[in-house]
Amino acid sequence: MKKLFISSCLFALTALIACGGSDNNSGDKKETEKKAEPSLSDNPVYLKGLALVAQDDCVTCHQVDNKFMGPSYREIADKYASASTEEKKAVAQRIINGSTGIWGTVQMTKHSGMSTEDAEAIVDYILLLKK
Ligand code: HEC
Repeated sequence: MKKLFISSCLFALTALIACGGSDNNSGDKKETEKKAEPSLSDNPVYLKGLALVAQDDCVTCHQVDNKFMGPSYREIADKYASASTEEKKAVAQRIINGSTGIWGTVQMTKHSGMSTEDAEAIVDYILLLKK
């Protein structure tokens, strides 16, 4: 009886260690998997652009995934994925000056209070959202 008790204790202890060990391992694995995903939330370009668009009225016409009043950010990112620096600057200027005719007949309003630097930072952010 005593022997049985000890061996079942040993068994329980081993199972506990084994379980504990494998739990930790799977936890570690999940952690690495999370980090291995292309994590935009660690990217300073992403964070800056996100803050800038959140401060402005962009959300009333643009969504990340769906075309709304204006093109979705992903569509914009796809269109300008391999754009030259000059083209990207022109896109940024269109945010400031307003635009129509590139994507359709709807007008993007002016954002004349926005600095060139901020508009270019927003374009860099949008380009990260490529599909
Ligand atoms: C009143 C609705 C509206 C608002 C507000 C708006 N947009 Fe737009 N946006 C549009 C439309 C419509 C287009 C397509 C314009 C065109 O066809 O030339 C567009 C186009 C764009 C483009 C692509 C320009 C290009 O060169 O192809 C970018 C980038 C953009 N918007 C960013 C923004 C950002 C950033 C903001 C906030 C600061 C913003 N938009 C606010 C409606 C809007």
